[in-house]
Amino acid sequence: MRVKISDVFKMYGITRALNGVDIDLDKDISALSLIGPSGGGKSTLLRILGGLEIPDHGVVCINNKEVNYKSEESLLDHRRRNGYLFQSFNLFPHKTALENVTLPLELVHGLSSSVAIETANHCLDRFELIEHAHKLPFELSGGQQQRVAIARAIAPGPSLLFLDEPTSALDPEMTGEVLDLIAELKEGGQDIILTTHEMGFAREIADELIFLDEGKILETGEPKLLFSKGEKNSRLEKFLSRVMRY
Ligand SMILES: Nc1ncnc2c1ncn2[C@@H]1O[C@H](COP(=O)(O)OP(=O)(O)OP(=O)(O)O)[C@@H](O)[C@H]1O
Ligand SMILES: [Mg+2]
Repeated sequence: MRVKISDVFKMYGITRALNGVDIDLDKDISALSLIGPSGGGKSTLLRILGGLEIPDHGVVCINNKEVNYKSEESLLDHRRRNGYLFQSFNLFPHKTALENVTLPLELVHGLSSSVAIETANHCLDRFELIEHAHKLPFELSGGQQQRVAIARAIAPGPSLLFLDEPTSALDPEMTGEVLDLIAELKEGGQDIILTTHEMGFAREIADELIFLDEGKILETGEPKLLFSKGEKNSRLEKFLSRVMRY
C-alpha cells in the first residue's frame, strides 16, 4: 500500500486530536501499525485514513488516490472499498453469525442473497467458524465474535483492512486466536492498517510502525529499527519501556 498524507489536523471541541501529521510511505508494505500512548491520536488517524472521520485540514492519499472528504458519495465509495473492525465487537446482536456476514454483502455491496450466502460460508469456513454459522453473537466466545467480525470485514474483498485495537477486549487465549488470524490474512496478501497495544504483535506483523503521541508523529520506521533504537529518554523509548515491562 502507499500512504501519503500531509498537514492533517483534527480538533474535537477544544481537544487537539491530530496536530499536523505527515506520512510519506512510498514503498510496498502490506501492514502498517499505529502505536503510542492512550489519547495520542491513533484511532483518529485510522478513522481519517478509512474515511470515517473528516479532517479539519490536510490531504490524504491512499494508493495514489486522494480521499475526497468533501463528497459524501466519494466517501461512501471509499468506505465500501475497505473493511473495518473495532475493539468492541459490533456484530448485530439479533442476527446469526452467517447473517452478520451476509447482511452487508446484500445491503451495501448489492450481492444477491444466494451469492452472499455462498461468499459468507466460504469466509466462515476459512476461519473455522462454519459450525457456529447459525449461532447468535451471545452464544459465541469473545474471540469467536471477533473472528466473525473479521470474516464480515473481509467478505467483500476489501482493498484495505482497518483494525482498531482488535484484541483489546479479549483475554490472552482469545487474543492469540485473533492475532493468528490477522497474521494469516497478511500472509494471504491482505493489506492492513491497524492500531494495537500488543507490542510483540506489532513488531511481528507490521512492515512499518508509526509512533503517535499528543497528535503528532514522533517516530516512524521498520519495527526492528524502532524497537532497537539506542536513543535513551526519547518518548518512544519511555513508552516501550513502560508497555513492555510486564
Ligand atoms: N469523538 C470524540 N469527541 C471528543 N474527543 C475525542 C473524540 N474522539 C477522540 N477524542 C479525543 O481526541 C484525542 C485522541 O483520541 P484517539 O481516540 O485518537 O486516541 P488513541 O490514541 O486512539 O487512544 P487509545 O489508545 O486510548 O485508543 C483524545 O484526547 C480523545 O479524548
Ligand atoms: Mg484508540
